[in-house]
Amino acid sequence: MSIKQLDAPDASIIDRWHPALPSERLGAEPVSVEVLSVKVALFRIKGEAVAFRDLCIHRGVPLSLGRVEEDRVVCPYHGWTYDACGACVRIPAQPAGKAIPEKARVTTYRTVEQEGLIWISFGQPDGPPLSLPAFDGFRKVLCAPYEVQAAAPRVIENFLDVSHLMFVHEGLLGDPASAEIHEYRMHRTEEGLVSDEIEVYQPDADGTGKGVTNRYVYKVLGPFAAFLEKRDSADPDHVFGLLFAVLPHAEKRSTAYAVIYRNYALDTPDSVFAEFQDKLIEQDRVIVESQTPELLPLDLQAELHLVSDRASIAYRQWLKELGVSFGAE
Ligand code: FES
Ligand code: FE
Repeated sequence: MSIKQLDAPDASIIDRWHPALPSERLGAEPVSVEVLSVKVALFRIKGEAVAFRDLCIHRGVPLSLGRVEEDRVVCPYHGWTYDACGACVRIPAQPAGKAIPEKARVTTYRTVEQEGLIWISFGQPDGPPLSLPAFDGFRKVLCAPYEVQAAAPRVIENFLDVSHLMFVHEGLLGDPASAEIHEYRMHRTEEGLVSDEIEVYQPDADGTGKGVTNRYVYKVLGPFAAFLEKRDSADPDHVFGLLFAVLPHAEKRSTAYAVIYRNYALDTPDSVFAEFQDKLIEQDRVIVESQTPELLPLDLQAELHLVSDRASIAYRQWLKELGVSFGAE
């Protein structure tokens, strides 16, 4: 699918930022990543992340197979060389002094780095990828990328689903004996969709093995990005935050990125929290990959909903209003 085909129904995601790669994974070697069914080549040029359509306009070879040489991208096939703006500046087979055709350029995309990730947009985003608080004094951990063979809206909806905690994450994030969810509402704010506080008893809330009752607040920041904050009811100054952003490679194939923020247990190794997240997301992956239909149904008649599903309901309604159809039906 080309961006042109995506353009009409999904302008809302074309103009969004998508988390393409952890910043630390882009060095001297180019990296290819699929974003919204489009192959993108990422390069680091003068320290900046640069994104090209992964296709040399000469004979269609992926530019991610090439290399960066003196701040330019060199195609591996016939050595056509592109500057960071995508303009071809050298065609080795062409006689010296002959002008390079105007049309000899590759499509480039906007990039920005935030929260340890390289974000890419095919359109004209109206701001940075995320507006998050500064988290002064917080420890931040970028967890491993998580590949999920599922549609991005399914992956996000699972993140917003409070009543699965007691079952999919039994003994960790919830206890089936305390599965009742008290009534809560979702609100539309400038940040996106925000839930009321939802209390959940968690036998092991964060991997440190401590049982606590947490107050959850969910925020939907974009079609494929959400945030949750939980505070220990007995000690509300202890805050755990989790940014969860999903890259839709294709309609039914995604990579999820998680960034954990905490202002407590600063002496506990970050790996404790990251490995716990790995375990939770693996539990989620099995469920989300099993769901039918694979595309998230935006028609609320299509599945049964309870009051405890308010976050999912609000998310589906919001996607429908935005006109998001990638990964949804
Ligand atoms: Fe890239 Fe020919 S295919 S230079
Ligand atoms: Fe989960």
